Formats: sequence, structure tokens, C-alpha cells
Amino acid sequence: EEHKPHVFVVLGASGDLAKKKIYPTLWRLYIDGLLPENTKFIGYARSKLTVDDIKEKCSPFLKVQDSEKDKVEEFWKVNSYVAGLYDKQADFKNLDTHLTTLSANASRLFYLALPPSVYDTVTSNIKSSCMTKVAGCWTRVIIEKPFGKDLDSSEKLSKHLAKLFTEDQLYRIDHYLGKEMVQNLLCMRFGNRIFGPVWNRDNIAAVVITFKEPFGTQGRGGYFDEFGIIRDVMQNHLLQIMCLTAMEKPVSMAAEDIRDEKVKVLKAVTALTLDDVVLGQYQGDPDGKTEDSKKGYRDDPTVPKGSKTATYALACLNVANERWDGVPFILKCGKATNERKAEVRIQFKDVPGNIFPDGQLKRNELVMRVQPGEAVYCKMMTKVPGMAIGAEETELDLTYNHRYEGVKMPDAYERLILDVFLGSQMHFVRTDELREAWRIFTPLLHTVESAGGPTPIAYKYGTRGPKEADDLARKRGLLYTGTYQWKSLNKL
Ligand code: BG6
Repeated sequence: EEHKPHVFVVLGASGDLAKKKIYPTLWRLYIDGLLPENTKFIGYARSKLTVDDIKEKCSPFLKVQDSEKDKVEEFWKVNSYVAGLYDKQADFKNLDTHLTTLSANASRLFYLALPPSVYDTVTSNIKSSCMTKVAGCWTRVIIEKPFGKDLDSSEKLSKHLAKLFTEDQLYRIDHYLGKEMVQNLLCMRFGNRIFGPVWNRDNIAAVVITFKEPFGTQGRGGYFDEFGIIRDVMQNHLLQIMCLTAMEKPVSMAAEDIRDEKVKVLKAVTALTLDDVVLGQYQGDPDGKTEDSKKGYRDDPTVPKGSKTATYALACLNVANERWDGVPFILKCGKATNERKAEVRIQFKDVPGNIFPDGQLKRNELVMRVQPGEAVYCKMMTKVPGMAIGAEETELDLTYNHRYEGVKMPDAYERLILDVFLGSQMHFVRTDELREAWRIFTPLLHTVESAGGPTPIAYKYGTRGPKEADDLARKRGLLYTGTYQWKSLNKL
């Protein structure tokens, strides 16, 4: 593959995602020498633009070092731009001609950095006019969420795509699958003898998967209001992490073996009801230190008046199989909370037959910190050092900045886009996986969004979220004592 030519087409090249994420990612991969040598980049959008226009839009996001000044010019030299409509086949024919002229024997990648409203027409046009016809070359299509809004709309899109492309041509991005710690779950679980035997309902009390952000929707309220936090984060990012935490050991590390196991675990998950969730919506904090924090979700001018969209959600899922039945998988996500954090926390059961003074032993927890600052730590009991014989909480700590000082963590998008070049689908969402994910959430979403749906509980900007969420987690079996604080070794 290394020397074969490739063309990478960014559809929606003038948009936000393209300039903030896609072009910067392509540039990083380019400068790090990770892409096949003969790769050319083509922007496509409706406006009549030049490469210089795209360059200008992207430059604040490219993070070019002084020493890379020449290289960045080279990068833009292998870029070109084609203007065209999304629903006009002739324009895609024109794009096809452009691609062939650039590189007759190239494999083709199409990245849809587009609003979902044009997914259908654009993919149809790619199929009818832009597939490579050269033997030995391939065409791959990358799409981003939202993949529909519920089971029906998602199935509709999946069926449409299935008519046009085979599964191995389709790359559905969930960028959490490109994060170091999320990828490490496989290795932690299946590469260590010590975790395998305890990874089950006999030993684990609860699993908590958390995503928190200390800022609000920041002008993205219009988009966000249509989807809400469950679709924005929980049904995809958190559920994917849950799959990797709960699935059985795959037969091999092959993409299809892994995806088979993920689907199986999803199939065992009971669909959610209103009793399993707590929903919240943030309100401005009048004493907030920043302008953003003084504003509540509904103060965002792009949010419709009186919106009941949740910006915080906690859901307790049950995986009704032999390994997990009865263990709460608590997925928790919130905007405008007290901190930025994403992690997986496995809380073990109490030690049976306690011989220590009452209340001294605390539950073991294994935590995989996804961000900020990758780390794995295990909360455990140890003898109080010194003369005393009592036990106290401490940790085994694998903080990456400390243990792997100076090792650069690639951005999730870099890994995933590189995977598409390499044809590795391990970290992409398969059609049946997506269907199961929607099956779990659709009844709940429909209830929440029906006329008599619940009003989310108000929580103040910059807090942990509604107290009711902690109550539900406790009721389902998570024990939060608050006696322990992990001291991160990361220089944050
Ligand atoms: C996106 C969501 O998928 O993930 C955003 O749409 C969220 O609302 C983002 O902020 C979080 O990604 P990361 O990589 O910054 O944790």
C-alpha cells in the first residue's frame, strides 16, 4: 500500500468539521509521514473557493511549528478543490474526472463532513459517479454521527447505504474508539491474567462510565437541542466503551471477531425505561466566574424557548447474560459540570468475611482514565505504613505522563483516518452494532420526547449534576464513600 496512490476527498470542505478536525488531522498524518507517499487531498463544497481559501480557513487550527513551514506549503500543494452541489450528479461526474486526472490509479477515500440531511444524495452520487474502476484499487466512505435519530431513521439510512456499499467500504466513525485508553481496554482485559477471573457479577458491584465537560453547548445549541446528550454522547461514545468493557473475549484480534462480540453484548442489554434514567438541564450560575457559566442552557439564543432537552443524563443498563446479569452499568454524561473527565470505573464488591474494624475496608476500584491525562489506577487497601496495623486506601498507579514520559499520544482522528487507509475496521461501528445501540435507547427517547415527557431536573452550571442521579446510582448498587481522592501525577 505504501507506494500506491490515494486520493482523499473532504466533502463539506468549507465547513466547521473540515477546518477544525479533518484538515488538521490530514496535515498531522502528512507531516508525521504516516500516509502513503502518493496521497492527494481534494476539497469539495458548494461555494466557489480556491485551495488558498481553504488554507486560510484552516490555518488557525493546523498548529504548524516553525520548523514545519516548508512542509506545510508542500502539503497545500498536494491539495485541490472542486466546487459542486451535493444533489447534482453532473457535479460528481466532474469530481470523478478531476480525481482521475489527478491520479488515474488511485484508491479513493470520501469523508462526509456534511450535515446528515445530504447523506443520502451524496452517497448515491458517490456510488453512481465516483467509485474507482481500476482493478486493485478500492473506494471507502467515512461517515460521522448522527446516524439517524432513532431505530427507524437509522435503519433507513443503513439500508440506503447497504444498497450502495458493502460493509467493508463503510467506515462509521465514533471518535472515542480512537482514544488510547479505549483501545487499551482490550489489552487490559485480555492481556492480563489477574483481571480475567474477577471480571464478572460474582466480583464486580458496578461499572461506571463517565463523560463530563466543564462547559455548556457554546453556540452549538441549535444542533444540540435536536439531539440531546443521550444521542450526542451516551448512545455512541459511552455505549462503545461499555461494549469493550463487557464483551466476551473475541476469538482473535480480527476486526470482525471483535465486532461480533460487541454486537453480542449489546443484544443482551435490556432496552431502557424512564425508571433507569435521571435527566438534567443546566442553569446559569449567577456567581459564575466566566460569562459562559452565568448562562443556562436555555439562555443560549440558538436553543428554542422552553426546551426540555437534557444536557445531563445518567442511565443504568443491565446486561442480561450469564456474566453480568444484575450488575449496573451506569453511563453518565453531562455538559457544564464541575470538571472535564472521561473514565471507566469498575467497582468491586466488598471483601467477604471482613476481619478489620467496621468501615475500614473500602471497595477496590479499577479506573481507566480516558482523559484528561491517560492513566490506569487501582484503588486498593494497604496496611497503614509504620507502626499501625490498620488498613488504609491507596492505589497502584499507572499514570502515562509519568510512566511513558514524552510519548506522544496521537489524536483519535489521526488513528482512525489512518485505519481507513489501512483498511482496518476494528475501531469502526458495524451496521448491526448500530442497530442494537438504537434498540436500547429508542423506546426511552420516544417516551422522553413525547408530549407528556419528563422535564429534566435543573442543575447549576459547574456542579456534579442533579443529586437525583447520585441517588439512583446508589440505589442500583454503586457505593460512593468520598473518602478517597486520587492524586493524579499528570501535569495538567
Ligand atoms: C462529540 C460530541 O461527539 O464529542 C460533543 O458531539 C462532545 O458534544 C465531544 O463535546 C467530546 O469529544 P472529546 O474528544 O473532546 O472528548
